Amino acid sequence: MKPKKRIKLFDPVIDDQEQISVKKVLDSHFWASGAGTGSVQKFEQSFSKYVHSKSCIAVNSGTAALHLALSMMDIKNKEVILPSLSFVSTAHSILYNGGIPKFAEINPDTLCLDPHAVEDVITEKTQLILPVHFAGLACDLNSLNILAEKHGIHMIEDAAHAAGTSYNDKKIGSHSELVCFSFHPAKNIATPGGGAITINSQPESIEPLLKSKRWCGISNRKNSIYDVDQLGWNFYMNEFSAAIGIEQLKKLEKNNKKRKEVAKRYFAEISLAKKMPLDLNSSYHFYWIRVKNRTKFMGEMYENGVETGIHYKPIHMMTLYRRKEHLPTTEKVAQEIVSLPTHPNLSEEDVTTIIKLVNKFSN
Ligand SMILES: Cc1ncc(COP(=O)(O)O)c(C=O)c1O
Repeated sequence: MKPKKRIKLFDPVIDDQEQISVKKVLDSHFWASGAGTGSVQKFEQSFSKYVHSKSCIAVNSGTAALHLALSMMDIKNKEVILPSLSFVSTAHSILYNGGIPKFAEINPDTLCLDPHAVEDVITEKTQLILPVHFAGLACDLNSLNILAEKHGIHMIEDAAHAAGTSYNDKKIGSHSELVCFSFHPAKNIATPGGGAITINSQPESIEPLLKSKRWCGISNRKNSIYDVDQLGWNFYMNEFSAAIGIEQLKKLEKNNKKRKEVAKRYFAEISLAKKMPLDLNSSYHFYWIRVKNRTKFMGEMYENGVETGIHYKPIHMMTLYRRKEHLPTTEKVAQEIVSLPTHPNLSEEDVTTIIKLVNKFSN
């Protein structure tokens, strides 16, 4: 018998509070401001307090966060090391800023950058390491930091999947100079569109610079009078996203706890050898498994009412990025990887259904 309702891969968890806050913004007629006042400022303060960063600026997507953060690092004609198993924005942020993406291999157990592989591709042109906390599991930041310090290079984290993830007992967002988050509707903090950069080094000078760049380079503004002393973009967050983000943040710990419960069951009950490890510091944005017969498997899951996904086709295999590079581990993983839902709208029964179907169709 087919289930009545399809189980979605991603699904924002909302209640009355989001509805009330959206209505308030609607009625206020104050919907957006490049100056980032109102709910945007409140969201920034709450998020910064939550992750224990020195400061935070909110933007309109994770892509904008990466674009803006990398614009602070002078990467023109310099190399930036990143994993290929990520959303294309990670690499686009390098091209937007005139840099050269250098893909490094991942660890097959965590699917995060392998520090040894990173060291292998460091050259005198390397300016930055850009790790991705894949599916919410924290990268080996200690080893990457040691490398960065040894070679005198910077690190910016792509934490799009990692809202609520901890590393060394500190939240992701509090470690590196700049850390980029996404609040896309599929993410653990879901908004209609949003992102943030947390700042942990020289906030007094970096924050005003980032704020200016996020609003077309506007500086020295007094009411209607202002100057523009650098190039910037229209990257500021709107009030609706900020108001929803404030409510989503209040629920993040509770919702991530539910995601961890789902992951615990997948880890214990899915009878596949290759699957996401159990690490209760992870935000479990999704849960990955590796199967041999992926197209057939995903088709069977869909036929039986469960949406699954592929995160990701490797970036170095996209036409725009294709070069001679060969990344055997990434390519092998990418042929087999399937994402399963972890969102807190799943019932116990949904999770049982997913586990039974995975065990039936993956072998
Ligand atoms: C790893 C990663 N980086 C960056 C982004 C970009 O975020 P956004 O969609 O908010 O622009 C995403 C979003 O899917 C992502 O998964």
